[in-house]
Amino acid sequence: MSRPTRRGLLAGGTALLAAPGLARAQAEPLKIGLILPMTGPFASTGRQIDAATRAWLRTNGEVQAGRRLEILLRDDGGVQPDTTRRLAQELVVRDKVKVLAGFGLTPLALATAPIATEAKLPMVVMAAATAIIPQRSPYILRTSFTLPQVTAPIAEWAARNGIRSAATLVTDFAPGHDAEGVFKARFAAAGGRMALELRSPLRNPDYAPFLQRVKDAKPDALFIFCPSGEGAAIMKQFQERGLKEAGIKLIGTGDVMDDDILNSFGPDALGTITSHHYSAAHDSPENAAFTAAFRAVAPNMRPNFMAVGGWDGMTLIAESLKAANDTDGDKLLAAMKGRSWLSPRGPVTIAAETRDITQDVYIRRVESREGQLWNLEFDRIAQVAA
Ligand code: PHB
Repeated sequence: MSRPTRRGLLAGGTALLAAPGLARAQAEPLKIGLILPMTGPFASTGRQIDAATRAWLRTNGEVQAGRRLEILLRDDGGVQPDTTRRLAQELVVRDKVKVLAGFGLTPLALATAPIATEAKLPMVVMAAATAIIPQRSPYILRTSFTLPQVTAPIAEWAARNGIRSAATLVTDFAPGHDAEGVFKARFAAAGGRMALELRSPLRNPDYAPFLQRVKDAKPDALFIFCPSGEGAAIMKQFQERGLKEAGIKLIGTGDVMDDDILNSFGPDALGTITSHHYSAAHDSPENAAFTAAFRAVAPNMRPNFMAVGGWDGMTLIAESLKAANDTDGDKLLAAMKGRSWLSPRGPVTIAAETRDITQDVYIRRVESREGQLWNLEFDRIAQVAA
């Protein structure tokens, strides 16, 4: 695999490292309202992003462009869009935040979009990944990924690598629908045949009956999308139902082989091929620095793709503050559009037109190294637009 080119990228990352911000803040702090699911079924997303933002501040310094970055963390519980919207409203009106950030799941980001529009404040989506999100407000930008962006590469890889028929199993909400639609279209266009399309509920899913149906249909492969954290329950049933022994290959987006929980999966996970924008095993100096900084604040966790979205969200906010030298929402937004930097995942750009992230997407295989499971990248599709 060739290394991503560094030419043409802004030197944002190194500038940050060179100015650790030990100087005293002169001006008003820049308040960032960070809304995450810190409790509830999607708390792993909250824990990952919270740790990443703290690691960022510890590494780069709280003072940026003469202002202290002050994070106001709010737990929305991850399942009630009304709660997320109310917390955002309070952060804007009462706490006077200048940036909204976080948003663990699509419905929560969609519910908050009108608040960002009305307040004219940048809303940095660090996690939620349904394609349409930035279209819901001209103030939304995204540092995570989109399901279409990471699904197309695995669909095409599968068709090119001897998989003639496939089933899909996706969680039944917007990002799952994105993944299902794109997988189907790209796999069929490349000559593949869809054997079965299944959707499991977002709340309290029981994967056993779905996996039994897949086993009975005997496709060459099963494509899975589930939100971060759910992979463990799916893998348990995949194992118990004996799908691997039945000759059915597991493929998916990287969400299912989430680095937060990958190491708890048994040997059935070995060899699983997924496509995604981030692996904790990504081989670059930027990722080595990121994973070390993350472990310093969260020694028992491995950073996953949610964490890198949080880390890069902080880079976007800090670099835009420096460029705008102002905390006005419209000026910050203007500075965020079109910004490029070298992320722990590789080179990224917030496309000026769409406010969405352009990034490399990798094909990875689960392998064991020194007794631990990792997603090892073996192919790269450069600079995929969202
Ligand atoms: C989403 O709600 O957009 C979402 C959540 C978790 C993921 C991916 C997408 O892993």
